[in-house]
Amino acid sequence: MTLLDGKRVAGEVRARIQTNARELTEQTGIVPGLAVILVGDDPASATYVKNKEKACAEVGFYSEVYRLAAGTTQDALLQLIDRLNADDKIHGILVQLPLPKQIDETCVIQKIAPEKDVDAFGFASVGKIMIGSFDFLPCTPAGVMELLSAYSIDPCGKHAVVIGRSNIVGKPQAMLLMHQNATVTICHSRTRDLAHYTQDADILVVAVGKAGFLTADMVKDGAVVIDVGMNRNAEGKLCGDVDFAAVAPKCSYITPVPGGVGPMTITMLLQNTLTAARNRAKSE
Ligand code: GUN
Repeated sequence: MTLLDGKRVAGEVRARIQTNARELTEQTGIVPGLAVILVGDDPASATYVKNKEKACAEVGFYSEVYRLAAGTTQDALLQLIDRLNADDKIHGILVQLPLPKQIDETCVIQKIAPEKDVDAFGFASVGKIMIGSFDFLPCTPAGVMELLSAYSIDPCGKHAVVIGRSNIVGKPQAMLLMHQNATVTICHSRTRDLAHYTQDADILVVAVGKAGFLTADMVKDGAVVIDVGMNRNAEGKLCGDVDFAAVAPKCSYITPVPGGVGPMTITMLLQNTLTAARNRAKSE
């Protein structure tokens, strides 16, 4: 069993992004800039946003973070996005999800200019991903693909099973695996006899949000297991969706939590922000 070391791979990719960003600045004067908007005080979201801000600083990006009160109106948020859409210092805009109940997420996401949609959640980005011709890939699924590639794990011809059908992870993950010629099965909370599918998986991506969800009996010997989960166990310790101690011995490769998919996600956000800044430079 080999651990898929997201921390190491993320470090390597971030070093490359930093070099490329410096070159872009030398050639064009453009410093990649990211605006992150957090509405409310969900502690997990606050941590994610802080990590994004820190990652930007580490690779020399410009960043702005807007921490708005939980009672912020949808109109005020849309106005801020409008302003950021027109701001030349900002190449990427990210609205941290989930948003408070009074705000319509879909409406807010669509307000982000497509050329600044570094989360790749907008209609234009999603459509492009479906077709296979894109500027931005959603960060978590893209991070998973980058991690597979770093360990020369080729999805071509393999049976990839994705558990979870969210717009952020499950659906785009399935699409990216299919673009790389995997045969993909998407499972979800209504799937009957889930183990029937997972036991046949060569590559298994688990994005459920429940600690210990994937147990050893659900996994084929030699499978590649990717754990997208980010949960806290009873002792408050960060853990994934996979019963790691029992599942790991059966795997050829497995991601740890923390230190697997997590560091790759923010790395792909930096990559998308660099792409947006480069596209901006080309359009000038
Ligand atoms: N909340 C959980 N994951 C994400 C993500 O990838 N992007 C945003 N904007 N919010 C999230």
